[in-house]
Amino acid sequence: MEERMITGEQLDQEEEIELSLRPQSLNQYIGQTTVKENLAIFIKAAKLRNEPLDHVLLYGPPGLGKTTMASIISNEMEVAFRMTSGPAIERAGDLAAILSGLEAGDVLFIDEIHRLPRAVEEILYPAMEDFCLDIVIGTGSTARSVRLDLPPFTLVGATTRAGLLSAPLRDRFGVLTRLEYYEVEDLREIVERTSIVFDVKIAKEPALEIARRSRGTPRIANRLLKRVRDISQVKGEETISLETTQHALEMLQVDKTGLDHIDHKLLLAIIDAFQGGPVGLDTLAATVGEESQTIEDVYEPFLLQKGFIQRTPRGRLATPKAYEHFNRPLLSSD
Ligand SMILES: Nc1ncnc2c1ncn2[C@@H]1O[C@H](COP(=O)(O)OP(=O)(O)OP(=O)(O)O)[C@@H](O)[C@H]1O
Ligand SMILES: [Mg+2]
Repeated sequence: MEERMITGEQLDQEEEIELSLRPQSLNQYIGQTTVKENLAIFIKAAKLRNEPLDHVLLYGPPGLGKTTMASIISNEMEVAFRMTSGPAIERAGDLAAILSGLEAGDVLFIDEIHRLPRAVEEILYPAMEDFCLDIVIGTGSTARSVRLDLPPFTLVGATTRAGLLSAPLRDRFGVLTRLEYYEVEDLREIVERTSIVFDVKIAKEPALEIARRSRGTPRIANRLLKRVRDISQVKGEETISLETTQHALEMLQVDKTGLDHIDHKLLLAIIDAFQGGPVGLDTLAATVGEESQTIEDVYEPFLLQKGFIQRTPRGRLATPKAYEHFNRPLLSSD
């Protein structure tokens, strides 16, 4: 069981860099103002009452800072951070062991909580509600259930798909927090902060250019900065220039709106192969050779938010904005 805890696993280089980029406190966490303000109040109140923070569900597309926020919550509460994930917990006993190893006030972070097996999820209900564990001892006619007390703790769950959470689980979170795509200004600040961690210099304009093309996502902003830095260093630049940034982003196939080549493939498939739609998700996925779930979790939310596609009961539609983006004449549908 223990070795399945993510904390104990070897981190690859990418993950290590990501860890070093993580802000440690609410003050260092850029953007998401409302979320931060609310959490700051709840955290302060819980500390005043000397109680653990209510359970928190963080949801939103990948790379927006859910894991970062979870660890900030434990820092701000000044308690230990224990981290695991839905798919890593296979059996009810695994979760029971994690829960009974918690200390009073601890934050238990369960990433991808929508992927917890049902039998495991049921262990969570009494644990979240009454801080206790119902376990069955023995089998068959001698089986009996005993109730064990747990220390009070805070569960922080993260999911890209709040809709996939069962209602009883969702209802047991006191704080439901949706992370939104970031504003360009916030992303610029993140790029500048990351450049300091990377020990490279970048002017305001190129930082803004990266920010604009990051699909509203800090993880993408940081990744683009890394590639831009590589090219800038090879060129022998002292400060990352706008020209190099634009050139690098073109090489990386990120367009001026921040759409990448998969966004392009998706939109063009709807426009060209399905005359603008509507087309069902699975058909679309098969056409472009991507997983339906990846499209739904990663690509679609941004395209929807930016108004490039629409979801209808009969499938996805390309909007006039999408046609315009590719300079395609809008076909009249008759
Ligand atoms: N508000 C922020 N300010 C500064 N950096 C941030 C912020 N949010 C996220 N980051 C950076 O972006 C990267 C991705 O964040 P994180 O891993 O927390 O995202 P996530 O929502 O957990 O993603 P996933 O859903 O893929 O697990 C991290 O390297 C983190 O440092
Ligand atoms: Mg994460």
